[in-house]
Amino acid sequence: MWTRMRPPNLRTFLCLLAFTVLVGAHRGGAVKWLALYRRAHRPWSTTRNCSRSSGLASRQLRLCRDNLELMPTVVHSALVGMETCQNQFRDWRWNCSSVLAVPNLNNDLIRGTREQAYVYGISSAALVHSVSRACSIGLTSKCSCGPLPRPIDEPEEDFKWGGCGDDVTFGLSFGEQFTDATLVNKKGRVKQSKKAMMNRHNFRVGREIVKSSLGRACKCHGVSGSCAQRTCWKALPDFEVIGAKLRERYKRTVEVKRKRKKSGGSKSLVPKRPGRSQFRQDELVHYERSPDYCSPDDKTGSVGTEGRQCTVGTRDRGSCESMCCGRGQHNYTQVVTERCGCKYFWCCYVECKTCTKVLQLNRCR
Ligand SMILES: *[C@@H]1O[C@H](CO)[C@@H](O)[C@H](O)[C@H]1NC(C)=O
Ligand SMILES: *[C@@H]1O[C@H](CO)[C@@H](O)[C@H](O)[C@H]1NC(C)=O
Ligand SMILES: *[C@@H]1O[C@H](CO)[C@@H](O)[C@H](O)[C@H]1NC(C)=O
Repeated sequence: MWTRMRPPNLRTFLCLLAFTVLVGAHRGGAVKWLALYRRAHRPWSTTRNCSRSSGLASRQLRLCRDNLELMPTVVHSALVGMETCQNQFRDWRWNCSSVLAVPNLNNDLIRGTREQAYVYGISSAALVHSVSRACSIGLTSKCSCGPLPRPIDEPEEDFKWGGCGDDVTFGLSFGEQFTDATLVNKKGRVKQSKKAMMNRHNFRVGREIVKSSLGRACKCHGVSGSCAQRTCWKALPDFEVIGAKLRERYKRTVEVKRKRKKSGGSKSLVPKRPGRSQFRQDELVHYERSPDYCSPDDKTGSVGTEGRQCTVGTRDRGSCESMCCGRGQHNYTQVVTERCGCKYFWCCYVECKTCTKVLQLNRCR
């Protein structure tokens, strides 16, 4: 369509540019800071690094300047959150790859959908997780080991609390300040739009899921590797575990609407389904129904599944039947070479052959 138009004159061009900039300015919504992932592996050496161009909202800029040494951890969390989302949705029609476009998100992540709910939840969770870990491994002087649990909580004789636990209390507090800084308007008031309320809630779900995942890790001591004595500390699981838990919640996201409270003029979100008066604090919420993500559609932000890899003869989510939405698939072969038949020669080297394998693969039409 663009190629058929005559070249736009300067005025149209400037209008378009202004439009793009204006729309672009809020397209990333409250997760615009995820764009920090593009700054991975760069040093945060000066407070001048805390600039708007990094995707930070004005209240985040202050947090950035005050916590410069935590910023590499924030960047790391953006990467981890986005990677985990893509891992968790690898076989789904919507596969989370659209988040990589941040700060210019598509409609799938700005209209109030359950996919948006997941992305907000996972971003907030990743931030809390990364920061809590940064505390215990000594990446920052802003925090250190989490508090030792009281000895009364020791269930067994043969272990004692010690070591350095993840400081989830600090992680939660920093995480909340950082994410929710995007949900405040210029006058410093908490935004009350339906979208802001949804995003705020889902940020909280992300924090809660990390908090409730805090478990125990232990180290054995004893003669020749026996486990006569153990030292244990509070530790968070790998983030993939949290990503998977959150995906379970994604499946049961509650559709909500905004309602004025009976007492006073304030508004709140309530489940749309009649007969249910509240949603729980651990449930993700959304207010816009999602498309089936089968075909491309700008309005919903669906990119469609054409060209996606799928498997035949299964009934899983990644099956061609489900992935290709009845359009069918192309099959093709791919030749891969790998090391095989390795032999160990004493002492000390390994010799391998090179094998080629022919893979039968399928892609959606
Ligand atoms: C911070 O600023 C320095 C100096 O301008 C630059 O080299 C570095 O890449 C910046 N870091 C980030 C994360 O933008
Ligand atoms: C996710 O979907 C997009 C769009 O169809 C595709 O380009 C991308 O390769 C997919 N990613 C994975 C990991 O399958
Ligand atoms: C690949 O496609 C061709 C033609 O569509 C079909 O005859 C063949 O059985 C397919 N092979 C596999 C392994 O599915």
